[in-house]
Amino acid sequence: MAELQEVQITEEKPLLPGQTPEAAKEAELAARILLDQGQQTLSVETPYGSVTFTVYGTPKPKRPAILTYHDVGLNYKTCFQPLFQFGDMQEIIQNFVRVHVDAPGMEEGAPVFPLGYQYPSLDQLADMIPCILQYLNFSTIIGVGVGAGAYVLSRYALNHPDTVEGLVLINIDPNAKGWMDWAAHKLTGLTSSLSEMILGHLFSQEELSRNSELVQKYRDIVTHAPNLDNIELYWNSYNNRRDLNIERGSDVTLKCPVMLVVGDQAPHEDAVVECNSKLDPTQTSFLKMADSGGQPQLTQPGKLTEAFKYFLQGMGYMASSCMTRLSRSRTASLTSAASIDGNRSRSRTLSQSSESGTLSSGPPGHTMEVSC
Ligand code: BEZ
Repeated sequence: MAELQEVQITEEKPLLPGQTPEAAKEAELAARILLDQGQQTLSVETPYGSVTFTVYGTPKPKRPAILTYHDVGLNYKTCFQPLFQFGDMQEIIQNFVRVHVDAPGMEEGAPVFPLGYQYPSLDQLADMIPCILQYLNFSTIIGVGVGAGAYVLSRYALNHPDTVEGLVLINIDPNAKGWMDWAAHKLTGLTSSLSEMILGHLFSQEELSRNSELVQKYRDIVTHAPNLDNIELYWNSYNNRRDLNIERGSDVTLKCPVMLVVGDQAPHEDAVVECNSKLDPTQTSFLKMADSGGQPQLTQPGKLTEAFKYFLQGMGYMASSCMTRLSRSRTASLTSAASIDGNRSRSRTLSQSSESGTLSSGPPGHTMEVSC
């Protein structure tokens, strides 16, 4: 793959819905020239303030962009770099342009917001996404979100179902905090620092006590974040989130294929299990990962890459010829409902056996809870 160069560009001009066709063309041309250079960090103005995003790769005709949204305490790099730079992931992502959104104030080098700054709610963060897509002239996405980012992408998908082809939701909690949660949260806040609370959101208690190198690294990132005041604002928005109100069979539901992911015994396991029970089983795959802790995309990028590959295959986006030898040989011994490029099927159930760690596309119309 060609060497990627970092080009830092800030777009000051507001690009709002209703821009003139000339302005849209200009923006598109600018974006295309920049995209040809590999990787670009851009910002656009939205009704809720500026948002920064980094684009990797070039747009592929008739393919959605992969758009990521990170969790609280992290940015796109600390949340997604280990996954998107994982070796086997390259054969997937080379087929897609990637847009990695940084929640406002979370981008590297972000200045601290002034006192009294009204940080956007998670719903407003979701409402910023159309400005990004309009700027880049992308019509559809496959969203990959973690924690608060998974909520933001789900809200976006509920509001703009026609633009979301698929969602990978890691550690999603679609419910607003109840009274009990609030009381517990307030109590914890009396005895713990903000960074400890955020670490408790990101990692399981077992991981925190074990204090692995990864946990030490992320403890350092969160504790010494120069924008910790901004992080607190995103944290508050997350804790004040509304219920997504998703109900199986109701109008308020995710209409696209969804892959739910959570670590076995991770902090958000119950929330994700409940979310799974509320989604359409014919559209939902549920991957419960053993030995992955609270951040499967950091600890198990290999397993997640493989699951993602099958998810995309189920949507008809990964030709089997694109698969690694390893994956091909695994698939050969398993039933596969995946179709090849250009012949998109709508059946997708992932399973991964605990013994072999193999993954397959399973029979359509079932949601299977799997451990791996
Ligand atoms: C990407 O290729 O999409 C990527 C690379 C580095 C960090 C995050 C994403």
